Amino acid sequence: MSRASISGCIEVPGDKSMSHRAVLLAALAEGDSRVRGFLRADDTQRSVELVRALGAEVKDVSPTELRIRGRGLRGLREPANVIDAGNSGTTLRIGAGLLAGQPFFSTITGDASLRRRPMGRIVAPLQAMGAVVRGRAAGTRAPLTFCGGSLRGLRVATSVASAQVKSALLIAGVRGTGEVSVIEPEATRDHTERMLLAMGALLLVDGREARVTPTDELAPLDVDIPGDFSSAAFFVVLAASVPGSELRVRRVGTNPTRTGLVEVLRRMGATIVFEESGSATGEPCADLVVRGGELRATNVVANEVPRMIDELPALCVAAAFAKGRTEIQGASELRFKESNRIVAMVEALRALGIPAGELADGLWIEGPATLRAGVRCETHDDHRVAMALATLGAAGGIDVELSETASVATSFPDFFETLRRIAGARG
Ligand code: S3P
Repeated sequence: MSRASISGCIEVPGDKSMSHRAVLLAALAEGDSRVRGFLRADDTQRSVELVRALGAEVKDVSPTELRIRGRGLRGLREPANVIDAGNSGTTLRIGAGLLAGQPFFSTITGDASLRRRPMGRIVAPLQAMGAVVRGRAAGTRAPLTFCGGSLRGLRVATSVASAQVKSALLIAGVRGTGEVSVIEPEATRDHTERMLLAMGALLLVDGREARVTPTDELAPLDVDIPGDFSSAAFFVVLAASVPGSELRVRRVGTNPTRTGLVEVLRRMGATIVFEESGSATGEPCADLVVRGGELRATNVVANEVPRMIDELPALCVAAAFAKGRTEIQGASELRFKESNRIVAMVEALRALGIPAGELADGLWIEGPATLRAGVRCETHDDHRVAMALATLGAAGGIDVELSETASVATSFPDFFETLRRIAGARG
C-alpha cells in the first residue's frame, strides 16, 4: 500500500454557515445586499428558495455572487406553499427564527434525514417567546408550522451548544417586542452576531451571552465570504496525515469559534501555519499551510467539541493514522447531525480494518491503520461522512468505495474534483 505524499495549493468554496446567514439576513434588510464568495450548493440554495418564497428578490450575478433585495423586518409576505429545507438544518432552524412571529401562516419541512432531527430545542424557546408553533411529535420534529404571534423578550440558558438555536432566537428577537438573551453552555460559531452587528442591530455579546434588543430596521449587507474551514478540514487532515505532504489552502475563514481542529491536529504533531492573515468583512481569514508528519493519538474533551463539531468526521481520519488510541468525548451531538455520525464513522472504520468503537458520548479509534482494500462503505447519505471516508482512502493509498457520492453536493460540489487534483484519488 502506497501512501504517496500530496502537495499543491487549493481553494475551497465559500463558508456554508455564512452563506446561509447572509441570504436569510439580507431578506430582512432594508434595500439591496451584495454577497460575494457565496457557496453554491444544495444546502444554501434552500435558504435562497426560502427567502424567495417570502418575497425577497435574489439575483444570481455570478456563480459566487448574489444581489438580494430585502423586504425589511416587517415586509415579508406569506409563502404560497410549504417551504422545503431539503437536507439543510441551518435553513430549517435559522429559518424558524425568521418565520416565528411573522403575521402569517407558514410551514417548513425537509428530507427524511432532516425530519428525523430534533426540533424541540428551537420550538420550545420560540413558544416561550409567544410564537404559535406546532410540529410533528409534539413539536419536536419537522414539518413545523407557524401561525403568527407577537414575540416577547426571553432570557434563556440553552442546554445544548447550538449556533443554529442561538441564531434563530437572536433573529426572532430583532423583530420582537423585548430583549432576547441567549446564554450558551459553550461558545458556538458567532457569524450571526457579526453579521447582525454589521447591519446595525442592537446586539451585545458578553462571553457566552448574546443579547439583542428589537429594532425597526436592518441595513443591507455587503459581504465577501471566505472559504469554508469545514470544507478545508478534509484536505488539512489529508496533508497532515501523510508524511512529506505540503498543502496550502487559500483564504479560509479562521473565526476562532470554528478552528478547534487546528489545535487538536497540532497537539497530534501536525504542522499547520496561518499565512497571509487578513479579514473578509468582519471575519478573520488566512491561507492554511499544512505539512504532513507522523501523528500521535490524542483525547478530545467536551469543551473542545463545539469549535470543531463539523470537523470530527475528518478528525477520525487523522486518528486512524495516528499512533495510539484517540478518544473523542462529549460529542453526543454527533448523533443528531445529517446522520448518526458516531455510528456511521465507527461502522465504516471497522469495515476498513481500523479498530474503533462507540462511547456513550463519542468514539475511540486506534491507529496507525493499514486499510483493508475492496470494502464498500455506507455514507448514510451524509456529506461529511462521504468526504471523510474518501479522504481516509486517499490518505491510506486505497480507493474506498462509497455507497453514494451525491450527498457532497450539500456543501462541497467540487470535492472529488479537488481531491483528484491533489491526491489523484478516484471519486
Ligand atoms: C451550524 C451549526 C452547527 C453545525 C452545522 C452548521 C450553523 O449545528 O453542526 O453544520 O451554521 O449554525 P448546531 O447548531 O446544531 O450545533
